[in-house]
Amino acid sequence: MVGEITEAKDVLNFAERLGVVLNKDSTQLLLNNSDWKNILEELANEGNFFITTDILEKKINRTKLSSVVTEVEVKKASFIAQAKDRAPNFRVMEEYDVTGKSNSSGKVDDFLKLFRNKYELLSGMLKNRHNLNPIPLKTLSSVSDKEKVDVIGMVSKKWITKKGHTAFELEDLEHKCIALVMEKEKELIDKAQRVIEDNVIGVKGTKWGKDFIIVKEFYWPDLPIKASKLINEEVYSGCISDLHVGSNLFYEDQFKKLLDYLNGKNLTKKQQERVGKIQYLFVVGDNVAGIGVYPNQFDELIIKDVYGQYEKFEELMLQIPEYIQVFVCPGQHDAVRRAEPQPGIDKEFVPRLSKLRNFHFIASPSWVETEGLKNLVYYGPSVHDLISSVSFLSMTKPEEAMIELLKKRDLMPKYGGKNPYVPEDKDYMVIKEEPDIVWFGDVHHKGYATYRGTTIINSGCWEGQTDFQKKIGHIPTVCSFPILNLKDRMINEIHFSKETVERKIEGNIQQ
Ligand SMILES: [Fe+2]
Repeated sequence: MVGEITEAKDVLNFAERLGVVLNKDSTQLLLNNSDWKNILEELANEGNFFITTDILEKKINRTKLSSVVTEVEVKKASFIAQAKDRAPNFRVMEEYDVTGKSNSSGKVDDFLKLFRNKYELLSGMLKNRHNLNPIPLKTLSSVSDKEKVDVIGMVSKKWITKKGHTAFELEDLEHKCIALVMEKEKELIDKAQRVIEDNVIGVKGTKWGKDFIIVKEFYWPDLPIKASKLINEEVYSGCISDLHVGSNLFYEDQFKKLLDYLNGKNLTKKQQERVGKIQYLFVVGDNVAGIGVYPNQFDELIIKDVYGQYEKFEELMLQIPEYIQVFVCPGQHDAVRRAEPQPGIDKEFVPRLSKLRNFHFIASPSWVETEGLKNLVYYGPSVHDLISSVSFLSMTKPEEAMIELLKKRDLMPKYGGKNPYVPEDKDYMVIKEEPDIVWFGDVHHKGYATYRGTTIINSGCWEGQTDFQKKIGHIPTVCSFPILNLKDRMINEIHFSKETVERKIEGNIQQ
């Protein structure tokens, strides 16, 4: 009782010093609030003289609200990412990475060796995967007319005959033959559309004439049918590509929002929890705009020097939390050779990032194992040649083109298109392993799919529509950030628009 009177006196004395007047009820209200001194001071500073309970209650409610805001800010500052305390489990599969190993002299013999190597690898897969009993093509002439026969060959020519049949010249390492798909076989004619020059295919058919086969079925090296391999923990991998830093069309403000997001800024606790589980980030090419990649590009550059572009790229990437393992592959605008396989970006261009333990500059294509899952990382230029070679694929569904490459088990399905290749002493373009996840870019259009247990992701780009894209009517999908939960292979896509951050689930699309 004595204490209460003393405290009431304290309040009244303090109010008097401030030059304000309290009634009995407002004195009592202040006594119930431990922050009474600050409240009174603030009310006095706001010009109040006679402090009623009404004024007091409003002030106390406002203070409560602002203390909630303060609490949120404290949470932001104390973002604790689960991935920070978790040891990453990854391996760059050096055996499939050309960085530092390119020794091709580009002679005819080197190309012959490359094609032989490709034939041997893909024909081996065809023999293992299918019920084929292929005979060497040189023995075809000894097979009786109309007898069933299996062969494997690389397509060296494709044409339509005068009678409308689709014809292929197939070659193995010693001999060649002609395979024909009869015009009346509509289903087979559709399948034949997928066969392009330099593909290695299996054929079941009927012997006809000296060196002809009437095709009854086609076979592809393909992936086996399997369920997606999952891990026990929630760990996320994310993907960005085609930043084109240095271009005046680079969405820098939106990209900075992505960096804030990765650092847990402006997020709810639940969102922070998920962001904190991102442990791997794949950065899939065209990291900078480059110089002189196409005519008149100079006018579209805001940074007109490639070192300056990488300096800016580094500044941005340095803001990625250090516990995220970042795998950066080159694209066709980066400062490496344009011909595939492309080696990793040299440290000369990224001196600061190269010193960091969590940044890995890998080739395109390359393979990275994360948590026991095999990631195929490929910038993706052969997708362009593939799309322009057939009528059933489009730039707006890059995932379907990627599935086609997986069926062919080959990232160099066609030689002699727009995309150049270097004949290395071993084939880096054949898809030798069965990937769990494929990350690719280049098309500037997002696409997601699951094919035979393999998750396929193209994240789109961070560059606005170029004049060239306008001319061909291609609308890029920009500023999306897909993250893949390795526990259930679900994809969450975070979209960074001008005003806000949106979220939507794309789901696990089966093909
Ligand atoms: Fe690009």
